[in-house]
Amino acid sequence: MAALPRVLLFTGKGGVGKTTSAAATAVAAARDGIETLVMSTDAAHSLGDALDRDLGATGTGAAHRIEDHLHALQVSGNRHFDGSWDVVQAYLVDTLAALGVDPVVAEEMTSLPGAEEIAALLELREQARSGRWELIVVDCAPTAETLRLLAFPENLAWHLRRVLPGTAGMRRAARPAAAAALGIPLPGREIVEILRRWHDDMLAVRHLLASATSSVRLVTTPESVVIAESRRTWTSLSLYGYAVDAVYVNKILPAPALKEGDGAAAQWLRSWNAAQTRGIDEVVQSFVGVPVVRSPYLEREPIGPAALAELHGQLDLGTLAGRDITKPATAEPMQVRRTDAGFDLALRLPLTSAKEVGLQRRADELLLTVGDHRRIVTLPSVLSRCTVADARVRSGHLTIAFVPDPAQWPR
Ligand SMILES: Nc1ncnc2c1ncn2[C@@H]1O[C@H](COP(=O)(O)OP(=O)(O)O)[C@@H](O)[C@H]1O
Ligand SMILES: [Mg+2]
Repeated sequence: MAALPRVLLFTGKGGVGKTTSAAATAVAAARDGIETLVMSTDAAHSLGDALDRDLGATGTGAAHRIEDHLHALQVSGNRHFDGSWDVVQAYLVDTLAALGVDPVVAEEMTSLPGAEEIAALLELREQARSGRWELIVVDCAPTAETLRLLAFPENLAWHLRRVLPGTAGMRRAARPAAAAALGIPLPGREIVEILRRWHDDMLAVRHLLASATSSVRLVTTPESVVIAESRRTWTSLSLYGYAVDAVYVNKILPAPALKEGDGAAAQWLRSWNAAQTRGIDEVVQSFVGVPVVRSPYLEREPIGPAALAELHGQLDLGTLAGRDITKPATAEPMQVRRTDAGFDLALRLPLTSAKEVGLQRRADELLLTVGDHRRIVTLPSVLSRCTVADARVRSGHLTIAFVPDPAQWPR
């Protein structure tokens, strides 16, 4: 199998410059000779606008050639689903409702990603394993949708394991009775086949996104409200096991030297300069250890590859400068270490205090909640035969201590 390409996902609040930053990064990489695909998971279809090209949904998933080493793709929902999503979604909603055992399920029912978003994930996976690209830059939808989308593979796979016949968690013979007991509508054969394929596809997507070659770049503007959202996003992404390897602070206004008596416009600019400087400081202090990229507010919208390349040339890349963009830059978001007493599972969970974290153990699964977000960590066999002895949040890590459960270890 071909090595995984580097995958960079750009997300952030609406209008901050996700599409622009993603496209500028892709153009610059391509002009460095890196075989690059830039694709969008945002139904807003603005990638084509930024590149000044009609990426007209061809329905075939074919990427459009933009220039040497650069292709772009706007995903259309049709290719992967042919309308099957409606059927499956209706079934899932019934199933999840009937499963009512889990309090977060209700939330998921109302927040299933749309067909187009899921199609984008599947497309990403296909492109990643095509072996065609060294770098795939993904222009994502605004934060909330992106988080829902990134959590989806793991969550869906978890539910499917419980309703699909013949998969782990529910043995074939036990399934109809167990399903009936839970009031789950039994899926028809057609749906079983679709769900089974999805289960495998979603695990593959999850594997790709959580691997060390993939990371998220958060785009923000130097304004308190936007920065606050970026901070929350960072925690949520870490909870799901996704690494953030840069924060882009976009739309930084120029700060020319101003004199007394320069007039109202100059005063206005001066006051924004001061606020933006505070904002940039806040970003640097909030994202300890994460490279911060500073991006100027240009005189006009950077539209088209030439303008995007020019914007990229004006970025202050900070500690990213000179780094090979195709090489992963972050440490594993989750680590398991041996200790005297057993094992420690450490999860990067920045900006979180212990009281925001909920921890629930269910057989070989840990349910972690931070605020509104939930993550299911499926424990490797060695940890599933342990009990949780302790959990603590310290210096940006949640560390869960496991000790072997004597009853579950051969003597
Ligand atoms: N650094 C910048 N300088 C000038 N205009 C910018 C800059 N970044 C983004 N824009 C403009 O701001 C608008 C929103 O940017 P966009 O990248 O589409 O945001 P998002 O994808 O986050 O919604 C677009 O019109 C874009 O051209
Ligand atoms: Mg956009």
